[in-house]
Amino acid sequence: MSEEERSFRAPRGTYDLLPPASLGWQHIMRLAMDVFALSGYRAVETPIFEHTEVFERGVGEASEVVGKQMYTFTDRGERSLTLRPEGTAPVVRAVLEHNLHKAALPVKLAYAGPMFRQERPQKGRYRQFWQVGVEALGVDAAALDVEVIELGKRFLSDAGVETELLLNSIGHVDPTCRGAYLEELKSYLRSRTDDLAEDDRERVDKNPLRTFDSKERATVAVMKDAPVITDHLCSDCDAHFTEVRSLLDDLDVDFTLEPRLVRGLDYYTRTAFEFIAGGLGSQNAVGGGGRYDGLAESLGGDPLPGIGFALGVDRIAIAREENAETDGKVDVYVVAVGDDGVRAGLKLATALRRAGLGADLDLAGRSMKGQMKQASASGARWAAILGEREIAGGRVTLKDLSTAEQLEVPLDRVVEVVQG
Ligand code: HAM
Repeated sequence: MSEEERSFRAPRGTYDLLPPASLGWQHIMRLAMDVFALSGYRAVETPIFEHTEVFERGVGEASEVVGKQMYTFTDRGERSLTLRPEGTAPVVRAVLEHNLHKAALPVKLAYAGPMFRQERPQKGRYRQFWQVGVEALGVDAAALDVEVIELGKRFLSDAGVETELLLNSIGHVDPTCRGAYLEELKSYLRSRTDDLAEDDRERVDKNPLRTFDSKERATVAVMKDAPVITDHLCSDCDAHFTEVRSLLDDLDVDFTLEPRLVRGLDYYTRTAFEFIAGGLGSQNAVGGGGRYDGLAESLGGDPLPGIGFALGVDRIAIAREENAETDGKVDVYVVAVGDDGVRAGLKLATALRRAGLGADLDLAGRSMKGQMKQASASGARWAAILGEREIAGGRVTLKDLSTAEQLEVPLDRVVEVVQG
């Protein structure tokens, strides 16, 4: 029996998200969807699992994600299904399936949910992790790239994470652009085969761009002198990239050009970017994205350009500057002792809750002192104290827990005072 089975631990690479950390994490997820909505990105939910082919054809069989990291299983109907390792291919699949692209373009969608990759776990890298992201389909204008990039960077900043934006263009998959470059890259890599890490040698012919993703020291050294795609872009892609940079400048979005940034998924074309944050060790990419103008066709659909990003919620939570638990939702902690107290306390807490306020109370029979401790620990601004005297007079003592000031108010005015 393995250690996991014997001691009933969560599976390797997964974790339970418990309060109070869960509050900060939930805040990130909600804030993301709110901020994305302000730019016109509306929520989409796709299944947690898809037909394996969606990822094989969408993300690409030569990628690490598809080749080595997918949780793939055969169901009882002998279908090959895969827990989604990422959200872009499923969203594009859903857009094509439901013909969302036949209406006004671009189609702008936002999502938040768990993804699954069987990677070697370490700080910031898990086997179940959460992403928030957006996808915009149907328009290839550079302005859309810039809208998406600025949105990602601004949301991260709103969430308390300042990032460096790395930017590149990896051209179009055609013979006049990336095709010609790949031939040059291959011949360079062939001339250096013996210097490459052994595991990376087979990539040279299969998918040479992936050698830029390698973390192997020997390969990284070889890639330092490799030709870079930005020197070989066709004139259309070059103009598109120039426009992206100029529009980012207009919006005062700082970026660092990184000609070796190719991103790990095969669907990328043209703009590719990554948001890097401090304090995360080697897993310093809090998010990334780019254009994927050929993805819809790889999935058997009409040609449909697209761009998007995904941000890792687990990494955002680690990197958040205050890294604070966002305060709980309790505005008022009701402190009441004795049977009459519980009855009056439950009534008051319910009135507050019905008015849309957060309220909690002790139902475990603690002493007054014990309840005041609970009140402080709850993060509530107010303690509403119902002692015998208050109950008899139909009143409540409201104590402001941040200043220790107290005031006595009639029971039916508590909501009003707290809403203040
Ligand atoms: P990705 O770079 O594979 O892109 O993942 C985006 C982010 O998800 C990463 O930067 C990281 O923060 C987080 N992430 C990835 N793997 C893990 C992991 N094992 N543990 C914790 N966090 C992780 C995509 O997934 C693309 N779908 C992004 C995209 C959207 N491109 C266009 N549209």
